[in-house]
Amino acid sequence: MSIIKENNILYNERFPLSNKYDPDWILDNSMGINALWLTEWLCEVIELKPGMRVLDLGCGRAISSVFLAKEFGVQVWAYDLWINATDNWNRIKQQGLESKIYPIHGDARNMPFAEGFFDAIISVDSYIYFGTDDLYLNYLQSFLVPGGTLGIALPGLMKDFENGVPEHLKDFWGQDCWSWHTVDWWKKLWERTGLVDIKVADIMPEGCMMYVKWKEAQDEVGKNPWPQDTAILKKDAGEYVGFVRLVATRK
Ligand SMILES: C[S@@+](CC[C@H](N)C(=O)[O-])C[C@H]1O[C@@H](n2cnc3c(N)ncnc32)[C@H](O)[C@@H]1O
Repeated sequence: MSIIKENNILYNERFPLSNKYDPDWILDNSMGINALWLTEWLCEVIELKPGMRVLDLGCGRAISSVFLAKEFGVQVWAYDLWINATDNWNRIKQQGLESKIYPIHGDARNMPFAEGFFDAIISVDSYIYFGTDDLYLNYLQSFLVPGGTLGIALPGLMKDFENGVPEHLKDFWGQDCWSWHTVDWWKKLWERTGLVDIKVADIMPEGCMMYVKWKEAQDEVGKNPWPQDTAILKKDAGEYVGFVRLVATRK
């Protein structure tokens, strides 16, 4: 990966590790917001040591997996449903990480792994697609070693809507946004099961501004799939939209 590029449009003093990576590669391979910013934010509160077995659940194009392998020396199982494992394998080989990252295509609800196999499971901008099921945590935690860590970073609500979708968010809010929730909602979902000890449940400071920064970078290179979102997010300014982070350990 390249060193920090001059005029790096993704340069963000909040995320020094992410700044080391090629902005074109990040822009081409992040599927929501900058996958590296979210991964870096999540890993600030997870202790990862070289050689650990980590599941990158819903890894998309596996750039978070590359980040995990490079920054922490962990072994990564890059697991995703919409992205082909061969495409991810090619990306992994381009990085010379064949001995560290193993791409697998599959559904988060039907995983081929042994119980107790992973030291950590992380999920970046993906848990909203399968993790709201009341019963999912019980399934997922079985793949962690006791004491192992589960960490998720995802878009979410800073507060619930009072009367339906607010006017200024109407052109932003797609049907798949209905699984966006507040940090308290997620915390309760996990806490009541008694299956995990919650270590962190918080929101990204100025998360909406990070989102705007990302959208502006996409606008600059003509790669914003939803160009109307930039102005909408600016208007929201974090009243409703932001990012949520939860980290817990298996009891
Ligand atoms: C918004 S993308 C984020 C991908 C990547 N983590 C990133 O940040 O660029 C959501 C990802 O969730 C994955 N996903 C959705 N439902 C899934 C499921 N049931 N099992 C596994 N992955 C799933 C999709 O394949 C997709 O790659």
